[in-house]
Amino acid sequence: MTTITPQDHLHEQHIVEISTADAPIALLLLADPSEQKVRDSLKGSKCFVYEQSGAVIGACVVQPLGFGTYELMSIAVLPEHQKNGIGTALLKSVICTLRQAGVAKLEVGTGTFGYQLAFYQRQGFRVTSIEKDFFINNYKEPVFDSGLQLFDMLRLTLKL
Ligand SMILES: CC(C)(COP(=O)(O)OP(=O)(O)OC[C@H]1O[C@@H](n2cnc3c(N)ncnc32)[C@H](O)[C@@H]1OP(=O)(O)O)[C@@H](O)C(=O)NCCC(=O)NCCS
Repeated sequence: MTTITPQDHLHEQHIVEISTADAPIALLLLADPSEQKVRDSLKGSKCFVYEQSGAVIGACVVQPLGFGTYELMSIAVLPEHQKNGIGTALLKSVICTLRQAGVAKLEVGTGTFGYQLAFYQRQGFRVTSIEKDFFINNYKEPVFDSGLQLFDMLRLTLKL
C-alpha cells in the first residue's frame, strides 16, 4: 500500500490495491464507453484506487500481458476531482508499484489526440506503434473525444 502524506487530517488520502470484484465500474466507464470492455479488462488484472476521506475518487486497472509487460487498461478520476493532480499521483504510484515488482514495461493504448496523450508522456511514455481504425473495429458506436471522432489508437510504452 502506498500512503500519500495527508495535507489535512480531515481529507486523508490513500492509494490502495483492491480486489477487481470491487472495481468501481461507473468510474472506469469514464475511461472507456463500453461496459463489456471495462468488465473484460478486469480479468486477471490489478485494480488500484485513490481514496479520499473513505470515498473512491480515482481508479486504475493494469493487466499482465506476459514477458514482464503490463498494460494500463484504464485510469479515471471523478470529473469534479479532475485537474487536481490525483490522476498523476495515481499513475505515478502504479508505475512505482509495478517497478518494485520487477515489471519491465508498461503499455497503454490511447487516441491520437487529446490531453491524455500529454498526460501519459509527462510520465515518460513513448509512442511505439499505431493501430489504424482501432476505434472503428472495436466499438459498436463511433467514439468521440471533445467532439472529434477517434479512429486510430496509439500504443505508448514506458520502460520501467
Ligand atoms: C485522464 C485523467 C485520469 C487524469 O486525471 P486528473 O486527476 O485530471 O489528472 P491531473 O490533475 O494529474 O492532470 C494532469 C494534467 O492533465 C491535463 N488534464 C487533465 N484533465 C484534463 C481535462 N479534462 N482537459 C484538459 N486537460 C486535462 C492537464 O494538462 C493537467 O495538468 P494541469 O493540472 O497542469 O492542467 C482524468 O482526466 C480522467 O479521468 N479523464 C477521463 C477518463 C480518461 O480519459 N482516462 C484516460 C484514458 S484510459
